[in-house]
Amino acid sequence: IVRSSSSAKQSLLRRSFSSSSSSVPERKVAILGAAGGIGQPLALLMKLNPLVSSLSLFDIANTPGVAADVGHINTRSEVVGYMGDDELAKALEGADLVIIPAGVPRKPGMTRDDLFNINAGIVKNLSSAIAKYCPHALVNMISNPVNSTVPIAAEIFKKAGMYDEKKLFGVTTLDVVRAKTFYAGKANVPVAEVNVPVIGGHAGVTILPLFSQATPQANLSADVLTALTKRTQDGGTEVVEAKAGKGSATLSMAYAGALFADACLKGLNGVPDVVECSYVQSTITELPFFASKVRLGKNGVEEVLDLGPLSDFEKEGLEALKPELKSSIEKGVKFANQ
Ligand code: NAD
Ligand code: LMR
Repeated sequence: IVRSSSSAKQSLLRRSFSSSSSSVPERKVAILGAAGGIGQPLALLMKLNPLVSSLSLFDIANTPGVAADVGHINTRSEVVGYMGDDELAKALEGADLVIIPAGVPRKPGMTRDDLFNINAGIVKNLSSAIAKYCPHALVNMISNPVNSTVPIAAEIFKKAGMYDEKKLFGVTTLDVVRAKTFYAGKANVPVAEVNVPVIGGHAGVTILPLFSQATPQANLSADVLTALTKRTQDGGTEVVEAKAGKGSATLSMAYAGALFADACLKGLNGVPDVVECSYVQSTITELPFFASKVRLGKNGVEEVLDLGPLSDFEKEGLEALKPELKSSIEKGVKFANQ
C-alpha cells in the first residue's frame, strides 16, 4: 500500500478539506487497472473531481508511482495505491464506485472480441472480488469486449447473490463523445452544444448513433449521415490504426470515463435529471443488455429511457446490430457459467 504522503500530513489534509466541502458526501472511487494507458489519465481526472474524497488506485504493477504522483495534486481526495491481488480487498473496501479499465487493448487487425480470451478472465476475477468486498458499489465497466464483459460481471454477481442490475454499467460514453465531435464538424455547430444519443453496444455495427435526434438540428444529407455513422462505429479502429501497435484510445477514453463516473457520482448524491447513455440490463429491446439513455439516481439506474423516434436508416441499423450483440452477450454468459 502506498499512501501519497505521511499519515500525519494526510490527517491534516483530510481535516482541512473536509471542512471546506462539508456539504459534499464522502465518496470512495476505486480504479482497477489504474497504472494502464487509460488508468493513469483517468486517475488524474478523478483526482480533479471534487465529488471524490478517496481515490483507490489498484493494478497488478506500478501503482506506487502513479499514486505518489497523482497524490501530490492539491485537490480534495486522499489517494492510495494498491498493488497485486493481496491488496485488492483493501482497494475495494468501502468503494461507492468501481471503474474497471483493466485488461489488454487491441492492436491493428484485431476486433474487440479478439480480446475476450484474456480480458474475460480478468473481469471475472475482479467481479468476484467486487462481490466480496464492495457488493453495493456501482461498477463502470470499460474493459473490452464491453458487449461481453458486462454480462460476465452480471453472471458473477448473480452467483454471489448480490446482483443489482441498477448498479452495473458498460461505459459507452466514448461513442457519444466521438459522435458529438464528428457531428459538430459536419453540421458546423458549436461542439459544446451538441447532444447525440448512441444506442446498442460497444463494437462495430453494434454502436448505433441516433443522428436523427442530434441537437442542434442540421439538415445533413443521407450520404453524410451514413459516413458519420460509419466513422462513429469505426472510431476505436481509427485510433488503433493511428497508434500502429501501441494500443487503443486512452486519453479520449479517460475523458469519457471521467465524464460517466462524474454522472454516476452526481446520481448517487441526489442531483436530479442526470442522463447519460450506457450499456445496461434492459427490457427496451428483446436483448437482455442494451445501451440507451439512462437516468442516474441514488441507487444507480433510476430509469432506462426508451429509444424515441428512429429514422428508417436507424431502424435498419437497429435490426442489423441485434445478432452480433446477442451472440456477444451469450458468449459472456456462457464463459461466466463454465
Ligand atoms: P493498458 O494495457 O495500457 O492498461 C491495462 C492495465 O490493466 C495495465 O496497467 C495492466 O497491468 C492492468 N491489469 C491487467 N490485469 C489486471 C488485473 N487482473 N487487475 C488489475 N489490473 C490489471 O490498456 P488500456 O489502453 O488502458 O485499455 C484497457 C482496456 O480498456 C482494454 O480492454 C481496452 O480495449 C479497453 N477500452 C475500452 C474503451 C471503451 O470505450 N469502453 C475504450 C478504450 C479502451
Ligand atoms: C474504443 O472504442 O476506442 C475502445 O473500445 C478501444 C478499441 O479497441 O477500439
